[in-house]
Amino acid sequence: MKIAVIGSGNVGGALAQQWIKAGHTVLIGANFPLSGKSIELATKIGEDRFAVIENAVKQCDVILIATPATAIFDIIQQMGDVSGKVIIDASNAVMKGPEPYPTVYHCLADRTSAAIVKCFNTTGFENMLNPVYNNERIDMFMAGDSDKAKETARQLALDCGFGGCIDFGKADKVVLLEQFALSWINLAIMQGNGRDMAFKVVRR
Ligand SMILES: NC(=O)c1ccc[n+]([C@@H]2O[C@H](COP(=O)([O-])OP(=O)(O)OC[C@H]3O[C@@H](n4cnc5c(N)ncnc54)[C@H](OP(=O)(O)O)[C@@H]3O)[C@@H](O)[C@H]2O)c1
Repeated sequence: MKIAVIGSGNVGGALAQQWIKAGHTVLIGANFPLSGKSIELATKIGEDRFAVIENAVKQCDVILIATPATAIFDIIQQMGDVSGKVIIDASNAVMKGPEPYPTVYHCLADRTSAAIVKCFNTTGFENMLNPVYNNERIDMFMAGDSDKAKETARQLALDCGFGGCIDFGKADKVVLLEQFALSWINLAIMQGNGRDMAFKVVRR
């Protein structure tokens, strides 16, 4: 796949590295001149993989949003035409959301005609870089109305090394998926268990 990663921080950087390893074409949509975490990522994957957001989006079929939720209005303007493309929303609006929308997913659904899915928001970025615990692959989770976007997210989760990508349901479950992310944050950070923990669905 050709993937535009918008946001070159913890999450964007981790997923970009995993998808490059899996053989995908990845372009980072960034603000120039590159600063901070973008420079750090460029030393790992090469500066030739960075482009202005509009150009990265034009050249790709899949777009990952891995920025603070409040940046989405600015990003929608910079992306240009996204019709026919898949957008994966990995953001969380737990601290500050894209008001008046509850989540970035809702904002994208209202303001673009792309196929959207919420995914890669429910676990720490370290688990995206290494989703294997004691030889077992942890799970990723997703929600949204588009089957096409979900199929793309599922494949990209498997390509990252996740064991599965569990479907939480349609758009009415997107807020629940952000609360699920908050559950991981609660256990890992607020309750002091540390970031080396993850969720996996087991079945009998
Ligand atoms: N950290 C985690 O483990 C984790 C896990 C799951 C989900 N999430 C969610 O994923 C999102 C990103 O988290 P993160 O930890 O990766 O954040 P981060 O390390 O702070 O990176 C954020 C990135 O967004 C970019 N950005 C900010 N405003 C922008 C704008 N207006 N246009 C373009 N790019 C912009 C920043 O670029 P500059 O540096 O150039 O400003 C930076 O590259 C958040 O919504 C977070 O809640 C985080």
